[in-house]
Amino acid sequence: MKKTYNCKLIRKEELCPGIFDFEIECPEMAQAAKTGQFLHITCGGSTFLRRPISICDTTDTTLRFCFQVKGEGTKELSLREVGDMIDVMGPLGHGFETVPGEKTVVIGGGIGTFPLLKLARETDSAVFLGFRTKELVVMEDDFKAASGNVTVCTDDGTYGYNGFAIAAMGEYLLENKVDRIFCCGPTPMLKAVKQIAEYRDIPCQLSLEQRMGCGIGACLTCVCETKDEGMGKYKQVCSCGPVFDSKEVVL
Ligand SMILES: Cc1cc2nc3c(=O)[nH]c(=O)nc-3n(C[C@H](O)[C@H](O)[C@H](O)COP(=O)(O)OP(=O)(O)OC[C@H]3O[C@@H](n4cnc5c(N)ncnc54)[C@H](O)[C@@H]3O)c2cc1C
Ligand code: FES
Repeated sequence: MKKTYNCKLIRKEELCPGIFDFEIECPEMAQAAKTGQFLHITCGGSTFLRRPISICDTTDTTLRFCFQVKGEGTKELSLREVGDMIDVMGPLGHGFETVPGEKTVVIGGGIGTFPLLKLARETDSAVFLGFRTKELVVMEDDFKAASGNVTVCTDDGTYGYNGFAIAAMGEYLLENKVDRIFCCGPTPMLKAVKQIAEYRDIPCQLSLEQRMGCGIGACLTCVCETKDEGMGKYKQVCSCGPVFDSKEVVL
């Protein structure tokens, strides 16, 4: 049985219009959390189903998560104020698997950059962060504090590397040997990273996003197609993922 906690919101910041950075207090969940796992959050208002949000970072007693307001749930969540209690189930899912001593690439796009901060700190990584435009670049300082090798990219060239993060990563891979790639981002980015990793024979883990219901493997709302045959072909992203080996999933 997954645990739920009533957690106090202890810090709230709006990183850029519509993107919020929350820190909640919950020592038990913070100490259990692994990079790449997520929280299933009761947002409030008339929303009934919880919404999945990735764990961005932890301390011994707190968890940080960042989210973009998309619809009613995240809008309601964004209205919570410091001191409010938030009902959170977690930590959920299967996170990133790291191997000590490996040289890795961490690549993320948009809101897919949030679950990568803790990973960037815990690995020896070159980090590539992609955003559509300068106004949407968030958490650059956090990533630079976590890793000595961070490239921020904007699709329209208004800040940092001029172009897609996958292009910057591609250039890096031409000159550097990498043991593993970790990626979280929109589907086109996941597909491109999967293709590059498989072409170069680099092990790669992808964090997938699906609409979720229960968050614990029971309702099958969140299934994704995998290369397994038979009963195992469709797997629940919430309980078998959200992180999968790139060779396992069909995108
Ligand atoms: C494992 C996981 C981790 C996530 N981590 C984060 C995070 O760290 N930060 C963050 O901002 N968001 C994250 N998301 C996405 C977040 O869960 C959705 O944006 C949120 O549930 C939308 O709820 P809502 O009620 O605001 O919008 P809704 O009214 O439910 O939907 C608004 C719009 O968003 C689309 N949408 C809703 N859920 C998803 C989804 N899962 N994938 C793609 N499109 C969706 C809908 O189709 C609709 O167009 C994550 C999702 C998953 C599955
Ligand atoms: S959300 Fe219910 S099985 Fe994944």
